[in-house]
Amino acid sequence: MEESNHNAEGHGPILLETRGLTKHFPMVVANDAVDFNVSQGEIHCLLGENGSGKSTFAESLFGFYMPDSGEILWKGEKVEITSPSDAMDLGIGMVHQHFMLVETHSVLENIMLGLNTRGPLLDEKSARARITELSDQYDVNMDPDAIIWQLSVGEQQWVEILKALYNGVELLILDEPTAVLTPQESERLFSVLKKMSREGLSIIFITHKLNEVVAVSDRVTVLRKGKKIDTINSWEITKASLARMMVGRDVVFRVQRDEVERGQPLLEMQGVRTCNDQGLECVRGIDLTLHEREILGIAGVAGNGQKELFEVLIGMRELDSGDVLLNGQPISGKSSGSIRSQGIAHVPSDRIKEGLVMDFTIAENMILGSEWSKPFRKGTQLNNKAINSFAEEGMESYEIAAPSIDHVTGNLSGGNLQKVVLAREIGSNPSVLLANQPTRGLDVGVIEYVHQQFLELRSRGVGILLFSEDLDEILTLSDCIAVIFQGEILDVIDAEEADLEKIGLLMAGVRDGE
Ligand SMILES: Nc1ncnc2c1ncn2[C@@H]1O[C@H](COP(=O)(O)OP(=O)(O)OP(=O)(O)O)[C@@H](O)[C@H]1O
Ligand SMILES: [Mg+2]
Repeated sequence: MEESNHNAEGHGPILLETRGLTKHFPMVVANDAVDFNVSQGEIHCLLGENGSGKSTFAESLFGFYMPDSGEILWKGEKVEITSPSDAMDLGIGMVHQHFMLVETHSVLENIMLGLNTRGPLLDEKSARARITELSDQYDVNMDPDAIIWQLSVGEQQWVEILKALYNGVELLILDEPTAVLTPQESERLFSVLKKMSREGLSIIFITHKLNEVVAVSDRVTVLRKGKKIDTINSWEITKASLARMMVGRDVVFRVQRDEVERGQPLLEMQGVRTCNDQGLECVRGIDLTLHEREILGIAGVAGNGQKELFEVLIGMRELDSGDVLLNGQPISGKSSGSIRSQGIAHVPSDRIKEGLVMDFTIAENMILGSEWSKPFRKGTQLNNKAINSFAEEGMESYEIAAPSIDHVTGNLSGGNLQKVVLAREIGSNPSVLLANQPTRGLDVGVIEYVHQQFLELRSRGVGILLFSEDLDEILTLSDCIAVIFQGEILDVIDAEEADLEKIGLLMAGVRDGE
């Protein structure tokens, strides 16, 4: 076991404090008179449902937003943080919910870029050495010359963290860092964060995963609708009490699954092979069949071909050999638009790059991809009435926190962005739903709702292929679980016979009896 971090009172003096911090956006109070403090060497979790104001609060501490009123004290002195560079000068670093790296630049260039005077101003050679030193210190395997777009999201996150450390931060703010990590990567991150906190660094950690709050925090502050509900010591919390504080009601962590009989084959993969962006074969002969009224879970550690398989199925990646059939008819080689028009909806794992147009309104995003289809077209014209009522309904059922359907999507909170994608895809009345990490970044209340929707689709006859790194999610929803490892399906297990240990071993490539 890791050394316990549960000694908030034993931590150092208060490093940063806010008094009455308030931030309005047009028609919303994102932060409403928030009193908060973090001590030296403390890991302080910030928890709250989607749109409760966590990112806004963090971005205000980082100088990205200017609060309307209230005070920020740093080491007991009142400070004005009017820009990120002010924040960095003080010693505040941040890893944003949606990364801000320059994709075409190297790790080294990204770290040196936007450097301020606080960090050592080094030439390239010494900078490279310092990055290697920091990577070694925290046991991160990082090539300073790797180009950002070639890195996995998990690796990109380490670049953001290294960048902050390079700058010599005393307070590190992480906005939902584990939303993009595999369970193993999250474990690694936690042990590094605990090490940092023992070395005196303070950490503000934003997450939706209650297990993580229990595992990693010294104290936790819960926000709801911009207001602080409470700050509690982590030894006083339970998952159930946290959930209640967050959403203001009890959350059941298990949904009701009715027994349904699976129907005809819907989507068949036959010997599917494809290569990744580097040209290496990463999906190596996959045979799988998804039936009507079935949720087929694909479990696996990220990077084992899931992403590429998903892209093949939605028509975004070419197949090298094999076939994909929908109701017995081949769909491989078809465009993504034509696949969608045949009733295959999909929830991509990257909502910003693949799922949404950030400059569009919520209503426009809600019909994206269906803007040429009924009921959203009437002749050559858009049918605004149909569009508006579809969008209104989506806003309401998913409790999307925004002033109206004409609101610009880019202003939504991270979880609310995901809700727009889900409302669109689930609402499109598909016969097959392909979902890649559908509940990533959602609060427990919304996850419960989405899971109910999935089961509802299933009982209406829809087949759902669920790619998820969240094993609890896979076990909760799936009828069958296929474990993918190095581009192959190692086993397909009936959910009734599935247990965490067996799946965990398969995910690590260990078959029965090996
Ligand atoms: N730039 C902006 N313009 C207008 N409204 C905004 C802007 N940024 C955030 N908001 C609104 O402020 C509220 C709080 O959003 P915030 O991003 O802080 O939530 P959050 O707690 O981080 O949610 P999530 O868990 O979904 O990431 C939301 O209603 C959001 O729509
Ligand atoms: Mg957020």
